[in-house]
Amino acid sequence: MGILEVKNVNKSFGGLKALREVNLDVAEGSVHAIIGPNGAGKSTLLNTLIAKLTPDTGSVTFDGRPLIGMTPHQINQIGVARVFQTPEIFGELSLLENVMIPAFARRDGAFGLHAWNQVVAERDIRDRAMSLLADLKLDGKAHVEAQHLSRGDKRRLELAMCLVQEPKLLLLDEPTAGMSRADTNRTIELLKEIAKRGITMVVIEHDMHVVFSLAQKISVLAQGAIIAEDLPENIKGNPKVQEAYLGGAHL
Ligand SMILES: Nc1ncnc2c1ncn2[C@@H]1O[C@H](COP(=O)(O)OP(=O)(O)OP(=O)(O)O)[C@@H](O)[C@H]1O
Ligand SMILES: [Mg+2]
Repeated sequence: MGILEVKNVNKSFGGLKALREVNLDVAEGSVHAIIGPNGAGKSTLLNTLIAKLTPDTGSVTFDGRPLIGMTPHQINQIGVARVFQTPEIFGELSLLENVMIPAFARRDGAFGLHAWNQVVAERDIRDRAMSLLADLKLDGKAHVEAQHLSRGDKRRLELAMCLVQEPKLLLLDEPTAGMSRADTNRTIELLKEIAKRGITMVVIEHDMHVVFSLAQKISVLAQGAIIAEDLPENIKGNPKVQEAYLGGAHL
């Protein structure tokens, strides 16, 4: 049984069926890619995993617990973190502050009654945030306002904001969108490092170089339905997949 299991999920927007009987089985510690043409339903699927959207029918189970009915915050607290298609960072705060915020949010109710505990907790979070920035080679810019970063660095900052929450499952929606080839390659290396830590990842990605560099398993969405789920080496030659991409994105 996978750490993340999606069973028969359906989601409509008015008359549009965005997800049809979607099933997903993500093995613990693996990188699972979701690919598919524009408008296939990839982001919609991701949003149902974090309670940003509620499926019309079907179930989502993470680590043996049903996610449907939980709030996004609760889902985050049991170990699911996500990187958005467009970076959501606080431009006027420093990188360090940006990384500390999700750590505080995750800790939430554990805020100590005694000032001493608060100071220690804050120092601990600050240290963790700094060491993550160092891992991502952003420590030199720890006190720079996030709005001054390049696009690639903003993406890395966002990853730091996810990792500081020590997630078990990381959901990434087009982590290399808009990046130069060099930044994309650095991100691939970084995601490989994260995978080595044993964090399970679900990656939505258009860039096949990224997909084939990282994924152990690929699910293909087309018009809201999973048309293939297979090992990367079997996906490229799959006629159904090639057909889905005809006249649109490149595989
Ligand atoms: N909140 C919404 N209300 C109405 N329609 C929506 C909504 N969100 C998505 N859709 C529609 O659902 C379909 C799937 O959209 P989704 O964003 O999930 O696709 P995607 O696979 O992520 O595409 P892309 O590769 O362009 O990011 C599209 O036709 C989209 O227009
Ligand atoms: Mg999308």
